[in-house]
Amino acid sequence: MRLRCLLLLCLAAALSSAFVVSPPHMWTKLILTHHWPSTFCGMEHPACHPNISYWTLHGLWPDKGIDCNSSWHFNSSQIEDLLPDMKKSWPDLINPSSAGFWKYEWHKHGTCAAKAASLNSQHKYFGKALELYHKVDLDSILKKFDITPSENYYKLSQIEGVIENFYSVTPKIQCVHPSKNADFQILGQIEICFNSDFTLLDCEKQFTMKTTSKGEWDSPIAVDKASGFSVCDQDMPVYYPPLS
Ligand SMILES: *[C@@H]1O[C@H](CO)[C@@H](O)[C@H](O)[C@H]1NC(C)=O
Ligand SMILES: *[C@@H]1O[C@H](CO)[C@@H](O)[C@H](O)[C@H]1NC(C)=O
Ligand SMILES: *[C@@H]1O[C@H](CO)[C@@H](O)[C@H](O)[C@H]1NC(C)=O
Repeated sequence: MRLRCLLLLCLAAALSSAFVVSPPHMWTKLILTHHWPSTFCGMEHPACHPNISYWTLHGLWPDKGIDCNSSWHFNSSQIEDLLPDMKKSWPDLINPSSAGFWKYEWHKHGTCAAKAASLNSQHKYFGKALELYHKVDLDSILKKFDITPSENYYKLSQIEGVIENFYSVTPKIQCVHPSKNADFQILGQIEICFNSDFTLLDCEKQFTMKTTSKGEWDSPIAVDKASGFSVCDQDMPVYYPPLS
């Protein structure tokens, strides 16, 4: 009996050490979020007139943490060499000449991503986001497999199928629902997920609503909710809007 208890203790110790490989507040997954400019601009930002007809970056989000270090200020001179690519690949669709979007993303998500040594500077964070964006090259892959903006509707499974076949991982695809009674949904955002070593990983289609001990939202879903995107409905036709 005593021996068995000791064995159980050992087992418990072994298990707990196996699960505590990373610090408790460390992220384990990154979400590379692309948005479709026409949809973004059509939603809640009527002031923005998109002249861009390719998928652009919304952000690179760790799965844990929001606003992790408010004293670590965004400084665009630290990413000077990346700026031409930032403007093209990660444009602020509302205010193209402003760095406000990057500043926002850095404070909200970058300062949390920076808990990992691989992303612990602004140059590493933005540089890695751009690198992953180009490596994934989502816009070209969709075009290559004939998923292009169209007045005809797609089935969600067509879009999902192309991505799953090509990358061998499950994306998270988000839509805007124009109204409660609309019989179609508008393609808005596509997320591709990565492990902490930047290898591809399945995204969870539906984030579970987790709350932290403080009762705050601790998941990127809070961001999605705020922006009006939700996971696309499997059965509803998908509108992939051309440049208006
Ligand atoms: C879109 O328009 C903005 C503002 O007029 C301009 O700065 C930007 O270069 C344009 N982008 C493209 C891809 O044409
Ligand atoms: C927050 O950022 C500042 C400025 O880079 C740095 O000196 C400080 O160590 C950071 N704090 C934490 C908790 O990482
Ligand atoms: C921004 O970064 C540059 C280059 O590292 C540095 O010289 C400058 O002092 C920084 N600015 C601020 C406000 O921290």
